Amino acid sequence: MSEQTLKITGGCKLSGIVDISGAKNSALPLLFATVLSSGKCVLDNVPVLEDIEKTLQLLGDIGAICSFQNGRIETELREVICSEAPYSLVKAMRASFWVLGPLLARCGQASVALPGGDAIGTRPVDIHLDGLHKLGAKITTEHGVVNAIAPKGLHGGTIHLPFPSVGATHHLLLTAALIDDDVEIHGAAREPEVVELATFLERMGAKISGAGTSTIRIHGATSLQGAEIRVIGDRIEAATYLAAAAITGGKITIRNIEVESIASTIEVLTASGCSCITSPSTVIVRAPEKLSSVSFSTAPYPGLATDVQPILMAMMTKAQGIAEIEETIFENRFGHVAEFRRFGADITVCGRNATVRGVNLLSAAPVQGLDIRAAAAMVIMGLAADGETVVEDIFHLHRGYDSMIAKLRSLGANIHLSNRKSRYELVVGC
Ligand code: UD1
Repeated sequence: MSEQTLKITGGCKLSGIVDISGAKNSALPLLFATVLSSGKCVLDNVPVLEDIEKTLQLLGDIGAICSFQNGRIETELREVICSEAPYSLVKAMRASFWVLGPLLARCGQASVALPGGDAIGTRPVDIHLDGLHKLGAKITTEHGVVNAIAPKGLHGGTIHLPFPSVGATHHLLLTAALIDDDVEIHGAAREPEVVELATFLERMGAKISGAGTSTIRIHGATSLQGAEIRVIGDRIEAATYLAAAAITGGKITIRNIEVESIASTIEVLTASGCSCITSPSTVIVRAPEKLSSVSFSTAPYPGLATDVQPILMAMMTKAQGIAEIEETIFENRFGHVAEFRRFGADITVCGRNATVRGVNLLSAAPVQGLDIRAAAAMVIMGLAADGETVVEDIFHLHRGYDSMIAKLRSLGANIHLSNRKSRYELVVGC
């Protein structure tokens, strides 16, 4: 089996300007919103990523005509020809589960494979299904597939989320937009991507208030029109380049990012000794001689995103002092620690807490990323490590980072793709 790997020779201080791409985690719910309308929808500033390609395939399978050129997606779903999403797709990209509600609202029935757990946790969908049930869906699960029907149509209701799940908030917001009745979501996620989805749904004709707070009120419509939107900058991608600059002792400017959306990341960078000069859409970060350790916990927005935890932990492996890191969102999101140790990082993990004792030198190693952000963290470690790092399983990066290699090279990184085969395949189990 020939698989691409990334080779990184560490030691270059990053410097220059990088433009942040549109946010994957915003583009995905926006694409699912297009299922609600038979009109033409247009998304601009869409990143070129495998998850976007997969979503376009799904939209094509259910009957949409889609085009994707120069960051612009145009899509039109005049008639739904299939209201199912198979396991092969949901397994590859769990956000595809969110198509269940929009298909149900539009067609009165839908079947979507139940996502399983993954590298970062068990990731159940009970909050999604409870919410759909409150809106009148009858739900059964058989042979790993969730079947939802609404024989009398969906209706309004009040939903209390036990946790501000981003996915459940998107999913219920999407579904409610096509219900001509009042829906209230309490305990909603407050992420900028939720606000952007609400803006798009409003342009399509739904009435929505409170997006960005924990109570969202929606009065949908029986039919929605097409609409246009520009996808916001990717705050996780932005954090990745900032951390890469910090750990390499560099100085870079990131552009096209809503700085407010990365305030908690900038707080950690500043506390670690970096100078961060911000304007509404740019950040200039300059690393200090030596980074200082910073302790942090992940939390729902506006707290520090769980997706930046592996990225900032990478930074802490080479900082002076001890960083205590708490992961509060996913129960199993320290899978990258074992790989970090291969660089010589000094980390101990106890449940959802990790203690990182900064070391002076990281030494390059062959490593793999278990998910998108863990893979990005390996790249950051490789940029700071002494010698040549080989990162395997880089398909994760293609899922979440548009043009990462080109962007890092433009900042002076010594990084390139290689088709060299691993001499030994990874053996799972014994
Ligand atoms: C989204 C993001 C992901 C990010 C995560 C948390 C996308 C495409 N993905 O994932 O990058 O890491 O938010 O910010 O936007 N939970 C339940 N039951 C449910 C739903 C969630 O128990 O029905 C739990 C999860 O297991 C997890 C927590 O809630 O422990 C947060 O998950 P959630 O916010 O739903 O994450 P996703 O929407 O899957």
